[in-house]
Amino acid sequence: MEVPCVAVPRVDGEQTRQTLANAGVLSKAYQIVHDEGTLYIPVVDPSAVPEKFETTTRELPPRQTIQTPADILGFEPSLERLGDVVIVDEDESDRADEIAEAVMESDLSARSVLNRASKIKGELRVRDWEVLAEGDNTAVDRSPTETVHREYGHEFLLDLDSVYFSPRLATERHRVVEQIQPDEHVLDMFAGVGPFAIPAASRGADVVAVDLNETAIEYLRENADRNSVSKCITAVAGDIREVATDYQGWADRLVMNLPHSANEFVETAVDLAGNECVLYYYDIQHDSEPFGPGIEAIRSAAEPAYEVTVETEHVVRSYAPHELNVCLDVRLTRR
Ligand SMILES: C[S@@+](CC[C@H](N)C(=O)[O-])C[C@H]1O[C@@H](n2cnc3c(N)ncnc32)[C@H](O)[C@@H]1O
Repeated sequence: MEVPCVAVPRVDGEQTRQTLANAGVLSKAYQIVHDEGTLYIPVVDPSAVPEKFETTTRELPPRQTIQTPADILGFEPSLERLGDVVIVDEDESDRADEIAEAVMESDLSARSVLNRASKIKGELRVRDWEVLAEGDNTAVDRSPTETVHREYGHEFLLDLDSVYFSPRLATERHRVVEQIQPDEHVLDMFAGVGPFAIPAASRGADVVAVDLNETAIEYLRENADRNSVSKCITAVAGDIREVATDYQGWADRLVMNLPHSANEFVETAVDLAGNECVLYYYDIQHDSEPFGPGIEAIRSAAEPAYEVTVETEHVVRSYAPHELNVCLDVRLTRR
């Protein structure tokens, strides 16, 4: 179908598109087409196009519109995406079902929709899930809680039903991993399925990844394989306090992502630290003093054997009203 449009040299395309959008004449029903150095930008009303532009008509393909859950529901639901699993957080079951149905009907191509059915609990930090909707599983043969999640170029297979994983920490993990240098010894004390350990190994570090959850360690080994870093990672299932005896004085960097009880593990961290070691200490504290308790715990475990330098006090995210998830980057230098 012939559509009214503005023809401009390609180099002027973005500026023209902006001007037409600001003038309220840009048509979203058709695609912009490029042909021999000229862009054809569809408009809704040629008579309203600013005079400086040349208008014409041309065959333009209709735009593929994507139907979102919000289009179907008429409101924006709060959703989180983990691979092909979509997570909702709804207390009211009718509303949860309504959202799940809209997700499956939309173009999100979700394989399942889950609702949080408990808080994160226990030593393994796993929660209960309610499966609200499940699509066709024949192509992948996975349970509705198992998925492959991609983060900064790495992929992680994981089952939410048996391991901890939060996509909300992606930026934070990237911040830490970017600091890691080739050949450093990195010890992840609470490694989960490997979202710190595997990218660390990709940067050329020698990594030891420990977790109490045997299933998480099985996934971590599988993920090391998937990301071609198995040779650089030693994965150990066990309590870090016991595993630590094999790695005393070994670490150049220590990742301590067990925010509710990290203070119980600072002595172990000091045992693991080499002569010079950076500790990434995650904590959850009241926003009136988010960093003080962690710094005090580290100082009382590490001094006087180590000089303690707090390099970064970093707020990762808001955790609950007046509670912050924070990270301290702390350098320990043996005196
Ligand atoms: C908050 S999760 C973090 C997992 C991972 N670092 C991530 O970012 O996804 C904490 C992990 O610590 C593990 N954990 C708890 N107590 C532990 C212990 N004493 N020794 C080793 N791992 C432990 C849990 O099983 C859980 O996988």
